[in-house]
Amino acid sequence: MAENVVIEINNLAKYFPITSGLFFKKKVAEVKAVDGVSFAIHRGETLGLVGESGCGKTTVGKCVLQLYRATSGEVIFEGKNLCDLNENQLRPLRRKLQVVFQDPYDSLNPRFTAADIIGEPLQINSDIRGSDFDRRIAELLDIVGLAPYMADRYPHEFSGGQRQRLGVARALALQPEFIVCDEPLSALDVSIQAQIINLLDDLQDKFGIAYLFISHDLSVVRHMSDRVGVMYLGKMMELSERDEIYKSPLHPYTQALLSAVPIPDPAVEEKRKVIVLKGEVPSPINPPSGCVFHPRCPKAFDDCSKLIPQLKDAGSGHEVACLLYKTSWP
Ligand SMILES: Nc1ncnc2c1ncn2[C@@H]1O[C@H](COP(=O)(O)OP(=O)(O)O)[C@@H](O)[C@H]1O
Ligand code: SF4
Ligand SMILES: [Mg+2]
Repeated sequence: MAENVVIEINNLAKYFPITSGLFFKKKVAEVKAVDGVSFAIHRGETLGLVGESGCGKTTVGKCVLQLYRATSGEVIFEGKNLCDLNENQLRPLRRKLQVVFQDPYDSLNPRFTAADIIGEPLQINSDIRGSDFDRRIAELLDIVGLAPYMADRYPHEFSGGQRQRLGVARALALQPEFIVCDEPLSALDVSIQAQIINLLDDLQDKFGIAYLFISHDLSVVRHMSDRVGVMYLGKMMELSERDEIYKSPLHPYTQALLSAVPIPDPAVEEKRKVIVLKGEVPSPINPPSGCVFHPRCPKAFDDCSKLIPQLKDAGSGHEVACLLYKTSWP
């Protein structure tokens, strides 16, 4: 594994079976939620993952954390392929891999106090008890900008932003090396979003944590990420350095997504042309042949319905899966 790589994902696929029959469940089809995705994340780095709803972002995050077991592919962490490990073998590694979800209210037990919520991972996965335990809770509350007296409060007594801070404190409890942030800002007001972005940034600087930052919001991802991956219908379409992808998107899908984002500079904004994609995202049960984007692609040509483009380097590490670029030809 390359130096400083915290986690490496190779050719990850997750197909959900669709079954029919009341008693004898028979598989009649599959949802190809994720279909051959590869990337690596380095220490202290944020990889943003964008794409429309339903393109497979959450499924990637859950497969990486082994909350879903992948259909095929590898998730390499500390030299081991997590997909090959059983629950007992995974337990000591799980503490280093954490998650912050979209809606903190859904993911926090309403009958637990803040101290219970933050302390639960410590209870399960550490020997810290007694006054050390209380000190660690106070420390974690402080790290995420909450006051020590809030330890005895219940989730409904916190504001939305404070609840997300609580979710972050819980994720930090066991000093993880990697956190999947799945739409962590989507349930929050814009003014609060900036606070949580700053908090995640600070924690990364302080502890060198690597993030997989999942969001459908391209502006938020631009702010948060060092590199950005664009997914469509279970596949990675483009993967590059943040500034490179926002300045010179290569994939027609990325170009369309970015054309819809307002630009703060009025002179540039005036010239912005929105690329409107025809039709809806097709079903991942029966994805289109060839390039899965071809039925909606404004630049599609004959070969696009026949050949599957590969995600390949089109120059200086800017990877793209599109037949317009000869490097992507299978
Ligand atoms: N547990 C599941 N069972 C069946 N299909 C699922 C399940 N979870 C997700 N899917 C399907 O997989 C696809 C990708 O979903 P998801 O990963 O949630 O996308 P995103 O996070 O990008 O919105 C969608 O078509 C969704 O309906
Ligand atoms: S391969 Fe063809 S259909 Fe797919 S993005 Fe490129 S031009 Fe469009
Ligand atoms: Mg999702």
